[in-house]
Order: sequence, then C-alpha cells, then structure tokens
Amino acid sequence: MVELDPERLPRHVAIIMDGNGRWARRRGLPRFFGHREGVKTAKRIITKACEIPIPVLTLYAFSRENWERPREEVAVLMDLLRAYLREELPTMLERGIRFRVIGERERFPGDIQEMIARVEKETASGERMTLVLALSYGARHELARAARLLAEEVCAGRLRPEDITPETLSRHLYTVDLPDPDLLIRTSGEMRLSNFLLYQCAYTEFYFTPVLWPDFTEEEFLKALADYQRRERRFGRV
Ligand code: FPP
Repeated sequence: MVELDPERLPRHVAIIMDGNGRWARRRGLPRFFGHREGVKTAKRIITKACEIPIPVLTLYAFSRENWERPREEVAVLMDLLRAYLREELPTMLERGIRFRVIGERERFPGDIQEMIARVEKETASGERMTLVLALSYGARHELARAARLLAEEVCAGRLRPEDITPETLSRHLYTVDLPDPDLLIRTSGEMRLSNFLLYQCAYTEFYFTPVLWPDFTEEEFLKALADYQRRERRFGRV
C-alpha cells in the first residue's frame, strides 16, 4: 500500500501514455487492441487522479506525428476519441472535472471538434480537477505558434519587442492558464520527451517506468507520485 503525503502532492501531472502497440503485439493481437486497453487505463488513472485529487492531469493522447501512422490506425484512434467524448461527459460533470484540449484541434474531423467544444463548455465550471487532453499536439509547433502570435502583436503596435519575456511567451502557449507540470510520467521504458510540453517542463520531475500503458495500474500511478514526493526540488537554487 503506497502512502502519500497530502501536503506535497503535485499540482500538475503530465503523462506520455506509451506502449499500447507493444502490449498488443506481445499478445499476438492487432495494435488496435492495445489502444482500446489504453483508453481503459486512461479512464482508471483519471478516476484515481480525481479521487486524490491531482488538480491538473494532462494526457498525451495524440501527437502531431501520430497523423503519419497508417490510415486505419488513425481511424481507430479517432473512433476511440469519439466514443470517449460521447460517453464521458456525464461522469465528468458528476465528478467536477473541467475538460480542456491543447493542440491543433482544427485538424480533427468536424464532429470531433464539435464534441470537444461541447464538453469543454459544459464542464467549464468543474472545480475538482482539470483534465487536459493533448491532441495533435507538438511542442515545437506550439512555440512557433506563440512566436507568430507575438510577432503579430508587435506588427500591430500592441506590444514592444523588449516586452517579450518568458511570461508573455507563456501567455501565448496552449497551456496559458495551467501551472507547469510538477511531474511527468512516461510508460513503456522510453526515456524521451518526444516533443511534449518542452517549454513547460523546464523544472519538471521525470518518472520513467518500463510498464506498458495498458498495464499501468492505479498502484503504479501511486508509486510514481510517492517517488515524486521523495525528491528534493530546488529549481536551480541551493
Ligand atoms: C502510444 O502507444 C499511444 C498512442 C499513440 C495513443 C494514446 C492513446 C490512448 C491511450 C487512447 C486515447 C485516450 C483517450 C482518453 C481518448 P504506441 O501505439 O506508440 O505504442 P508502441 O510504442 O508500443 O507502438
């Protein structure tokens, strides 16, 4: 049984949910099965995070690079996302979850964009936990977009170049009103950031586990949180 100190919980946990494909392959199943199990795991971890509660939970559900996967796999991921958005709204409302999407939502099929807008709107007053799904997200593009938005403000005479600071830049990121992640978890043994929240993770603690995402249990999640609580965070100070 993992004991957590309620005084030292992370305010924001971000997760790279990796290993669905390998989980399926090891069982001789098509990759699709791994993604389906991955959604089940995501639901269990969201429930746990909300119980604790972790104020902000961000899940990397679909990267910009994922558009390059075979058409059938992208279609399966879209269907899983559709089903998730359709089925989970009542649960989110019941639990006080505020739902948010970061990334290029405009690249998704129209019906998904409409569902995202609806779930965001209806859950906007949720106060227990903010659930963020990163969809068609890529950190370098997010930073380029912020630079473009700042340049437009400078050109329009609303901002002077010397007023561009880390804070003004932060205000033009998708994560504008969210705290930076305190803890980033990546499953499946890969030890990379893969273009996820590059700017926001400047002082984030990383936790890597070999467990594949479909096998990542609530207990594993608590282990990651306990590991985080044992770390001393200095933010560059002594
Ligand atoms: C990585 O596994 C996972 C993804 C690319 C998609 C993650 C999506 C989900 C878990 C489902 C979406 C969740 C919600 C809440 C709608 P991989 O396919 O890269 O695995 P591999 O590295 O073993 O091939």
